[in-house]
Parts: sequence; C-alpha cells; structure tokens
Amino acid sequence: MKIAVTGKGGVGKTLLTALLAKVFSEAGYSVLAIDADPDANLAATLGFPDSDKMVPISEMSALIEERTGARPGQIAPYYRLNPKVDDLPEKYSIIYDGIRLMAMGRIKRGGTGCYCPEGALLQALLIHLLVVRDEVVILDMEAGIEHLARGTAKAVDKLIVVVEPGRRSIETAYRIDELAQDIGLLNVAVVANKVRNQSDRKFLLSNLPDFKILGFIPYDQAIVEADLANLPLLDSSQQIINEIRNIYQALLSPAKVQSLIN
Ligand SMILES: Nc1ncnc2c1ncn2[C@@H]1O[C@H](COP(=O)(O)OP(=O)(O)OP(=O)(O)O)[C@@H](O)[C@H]1O
Ligand SMILES: [Mg+2]
Repeated sequence: MKIAVTGKGGVGKTLLTALLAKVFSEAGYSVLAIDADPDANLAATLGFPDSDKMVPISEMSALIEERTGARPGQIAPYYRLNPKVDDLPEKYSIIYDGIRLMAMGRIKRGGTGCYCPEGALLQALLIHLLVVRDEVVILDMEAGIEHLARGTAKAVDKLIVVVEPGRRSIETAYRIDELAQDIGLLNVAVVANKVRNQSDRKFLLSNLPDFKILGFIPYDQAIVEADLANLPLLDSSQQIINEIRNIYQALLSPAKVQSLIN
C-alpha cells in the first residue's frame, strides 16, 4: 500500500504520517516512511536519534552528479532522465524501531515543470519507491501535490488530505482534490485532525460532503505538552493512537488485504 499525506501547513500531516507508520509497523508490515517536505521533521517526530544530522537526497550534490551526469544548479543541456536509483533506499535510509525512513528534500515539480538533474533523480526515486518497492510506503508531503507527476500519482493508493476545523484547510482540501483529479489520482480521502468536540465534527462533515472521511483525530493537549517538553509525541496520547488504529482499518479494505496477502 502506498499512501501520500498532504494538506495545509500545520494541520498535522507529519503527526499522522508518523503514527500511521507506527501502526502499520506494529501490525507486522515493512514500512518505509518518506519525508518529502523540504522543512523535514518526520525523523524527529518518529524519535530517530540524530535526526538533525540527516541529509536529504536533494542536497547530495555528488550523488546527483554521479547518477545524472550533471551538477545540481548547473545549466546542463544533457543529463540522464532515468538515473539508477534502485540501490538508494538501502544506502540512504535509516531504520529505527522497525521503521525505515528516507529524507527526499524538496522535490521539484515533475513533467514540464523541471529541467534539472536533482528533479530527474528525485522523480525517478519517487517512482521507484512507489511502484517497485513492496513495503507500505507513507509519504509526508508539503502542502499541495504539484510535485506529483502523473506516473507517480498512479502508484498512490490513497492520497490523504488532513484537515482541521477551519475554512482554510477545507479550501486547501478542495484545491488538492482538483489537482489530484487533473493527474488521474482519484483515491482521495480526508482525515480530520484537532477535532475538539461534536460541533467541530459537524462543521467538518457539513463542509466536506464530497469526501470520504477516514477518521476524526481528537485535539489532545497532551500532544502540545509533549511537543513543548521535547518528549516523544508518538506515545503521548492514547486516544489519538486509538483513532489512528481505526484509520488504519479503514485504509485496509478487504480487497486491499487480499492483494497484500497475495
Ligand atoms: N490532534 C492534535 N492535538 C494537539 N496538537 C496537535 C494535534 N495534531 C497536531 N498537533 C500539533 O500541531 C502542530 C503541527 O503538527 P504537524 O507538524 O504534524 O503538522 P504538519 O501539517 O506536518 O505541519 P507542517 O505543514 O509545518 O509540516 C504540532 O505542534 C503538533 O504537535
Ligand atoms: Mg510536517
């Protein structure tokens, strides 16, 4: 299963990615979590030691040059559009607590948007991760899906848009849904986060009539406290973990379970 998580800034994309990675891993799946946000903090949220020392692939100039034949930032008339990437996940990922993690850095827009060697390498890597690898792959993206090329989008089983009770994140969800349809990504669903009460829930339900809502994650002050005290977020809220387990169940439809078994 390949899951991409997006939504407006600060809605809880990284928290959801980290917790889904944890729940899938606990259920026995091999999990590859990918930080595709240039402002990377998935490793830290997952509690990886030395997370601040991780260098994203987009900043590995020597590697980009070795694989594409051109230095990033250079005006290069020719570079390889299909660089070798299959060895990169093992070489440039780190594993902690059963979860493999890769930091991609900023992924330039695919298709016509980018004629640069780092874009070519990252797009090739993304396609490899989504199409060839057989783990559960969960992608934490910056707001928006502009960098998902058509070929990549087809490999995404579920695009999860995280929303919070508020008009702006809902507007973002509609915008993302439109972009998703443009690139042929039809499996879009919403996860509501920071839901404080019944009226938040009603607000979200009435403003997102066209979306499948996979779950409602409660707002929990314990997460805020853990963040302030620099404590691990993952174990700080039992009620949030419980709801993530429900979302995990909602993601695993019977057909999907069958295809994972085969
Ligand atoms: N359910 C929740 N209850 C309380 N606080 C929450 C909840 N979900 C997320 N937060 C807090 O909200 C902040 C943003 O969460 P997070 O970093 O996961 O969002 P994001 O969408 O990844 O943000 P960004 O766009 O900056 O990458 C964090 O401080 C996090 O601890
Ligand atoms: Mg984030």
